[in-house]
Amino acid sequence: MTILGTQDLSADADGIAKAADLLRQGLLVAFPTETVYGLGGDARNGEAVAAIYEAKGRPSFNPLIAHVASTETAKRFVEWTDQAEQLAQAFWPGPLTMVLPLQDDHGISSLVTAGLDTLAVRVPAHPTARALLASFDGPVAAPSANPSGQISPTTPAHVRTGLEGRIAAILDDGPCGVGLESTIVGLAGAPALLRPGGVALERIEEVLQTELHHHQPGDLLTAPGQLQSHYAPDAPVRLNAQATQGAEVLLGFGDVTCDLNLSDSSDLAEAAANLFAALHKLNATGRPIAVSPIPDHGLGAAINDRLRRAAAPRD
Ligand code: TXA
Ligand code: MG
Repeated sequence: MTILGTQDLSADADGIAKAADLLRQGLLVAFPTETVYGLGGDARNGEAVAAIYEAKGRPSFNPLIAHVASTETAKRFVEWTDQAEQLAQAFWPGPLTMVLPLQDDHGISSLVTAGLDTLAVRVPAHPTARALLASFDGPVAAPSANPSGQISPTTPAHVRTGLEGRIAAILDDGPCGVGLESTIVGLAGAPALLRPGGVALERIEEVLQTELHHHQPGDLLTAPGQLQSHYAPDAPVRLNAQATQGAEVLLGFGDVTCDLNLSDSSDLAEAAANLFAALHKLNATGRPIAVSPIPDHGLGAAINDRLRRAAAPRD
């Protein structure tokens, strides 16, 4: 989708209501948090989430943080634990993100979780972020509001420089306070520090009365048993297939006869939104998966990156 101008909305009741309305329409709004400006889209709307990747020009799919207005709202989406409760009471609202198992019927787009069965949730402290989330009354997926590979934005001007014309609006409330992204703690298994950030590790350990496991940055997406295992289907995956061979099921794109089509109108945003659910579904057939060629531009690059990983030889 081409957006001609990026609206500047002021952080008053009217601007916040308009921003919530744009989110409801599946459009993207940059908004201030106490850490950095986030690029927000409705976390339940796969095409809105695909548009986030498109606007950032991200060459790969990384799971995103779902921002919610309150602990009560977070509990609608994830399995709550005693440790989550302790950390929420100590640090929410604030620069802490918790990764927890998804509930059944969570309604979150699988593009937010990148197909994982966990969700990163955070209740930001910034009054404008809180007002927006309360008015929207739903989960907002938001990575930092900068083009991929550039530094995180702490002012509306940074956002405009990077994303002008690519997003519907910027909710303008001046500079952010912390400038450092939220600390991410994994609570789906033994408590682990997944990313250092705005809340110090020591404070978290003090509240939990335990030491956190540490991960190196690269581990997050590569260590066996963490994310990688969830990323790859069990079945072999063959790319750029014109037709199936043997027992294969065909994951199609565009005008092809296939078992499941990512987008029969060749729309890359639709294909991105459908990608993880489609891989899960075809994986469940237990048959090898062949995939139609997908153009390598725009969101296609991130789709192909994911598919290449799924197709890579495994030990
Ligand atoms: O301060 C912040 O956290 C900012 C503001 C906007 O809230 N957001 C932010 O988002 O930094 P982003 O997308 O740049 O970073 C999200 C991080 C990624 O490193 C991602 O891998 C990790 O969260 N993440 C998200 N979901 C995850 C999950 N289910 N399991 C493990 N890591 C996850
Ligand atoms: Mg970032």
